[in-house]
Amino acid sequence: MIKKAVIPAAGYGTRFLPITKAMPKEMLPIIDRPTIEFIVNEAVESGITDILLVVSGNKNAIVDYFDRNLELETILKAQGKDFEYGMIKHIGEGANIHFVRQREQLGLGHAVLQAETFIGNEPFAVLLGDDMYVNHEYPAIKQMIDVYEEVHASILGTMEVPHSHTHLYGITSPKKGETGKLKELESVIEKPKPEDAPSRSAIGGRYVLSPSIFKYLRNQERGKGNEIQLTDAILRMMADEKVYSLDLDAKRYDVGNKVDYIEAIIDFALQDESLKAEVLEKLKKKI
Ligand code: UTP
Repeated sequence: MIKKAVIPAAGYGTRFLPITKAMPKEMLPIIDRPTIEFIVNEAVESGITDILLVVSGNKNAIVDYFDRNLELETILKAQGKDFEYGMIKHIGEGANIHFVRQREQLGLGHAVLQAETFIGNEPFAVLLGDDMYVNHEYPAIKQMIDVYEEVHASILGTMEVPHSHTHLYGITSPKKGETGKLKELESVIEKPKPEDAPSRSAIGGRYVLSPSIFKYLRNQERGKGNEIQLTDAILRMMADEKVYSLDLDAKRYDVGNKVDYIEAIIDFALQDESLKAEVLEKLKKKI
């Protein structure tokens, strides 16, 4: 069983400047809860018991959020605000949360490499700190963990994108004859033009990885954007061991992207009984 997960949350978040100058993008709120809390909860609901958050120097807000705030708890209790007290007390419960600092932002591959000691020699999950997948009945990373039990090999979470969007993603190239939701991969092509794309399956923010990935990450040269890319290390691993893709059944919001972020807030407001009617009314007026 996969019990450990890594959540990289140390990036600069340049697409969300200026707010990310002083606040991690993983703390951007979906109404009243930060994005990263939904991702931690997805891991907890998928049976993960130990989560490593990879953070950077200016990400103390993340550490504080998952810590208890005894002063605030005492004040809320004294004021008889039991509901609010319960709301803050249970944040981050359900798993052990650990932190490591990525001292230089050298890329996603480098962020995952910071987890080597924590992971040791077992397979593990990676959930990107700014990428939400919503499926309340069957969380996305659980879908991948269950498949890992069958194939015992690394799995990249994928979703179908329109042909015209392939140039925005890493696109998987399945082995000949592979069809269905789970496919063994031949390769991954970074951001191909639609006419060069081997499929429409794009890699998103969920991975289940064999611990041998660290062997490749340790000496991975910098790639696109002068960053140590996780995909480059996975490609080298693919030459030595099987790697699969699994089409995920979930609604995805890439919160690092402004339009997806706004959509997430609207969808969550429309699912919240205390907000739904008024928000819908306002949206209708605007449209
Ligand atoms: P992104 O490429 O989306 O994050 O990485 P970024 O670099 O912060 O964002 P932009 O493109 O400048 O706006 C995906 C995830 O990997 C983490 C990020 O925090 C994000 O959750 N990451 C990225 C790290 O932890 N370390 C890095 O060096 C780079």
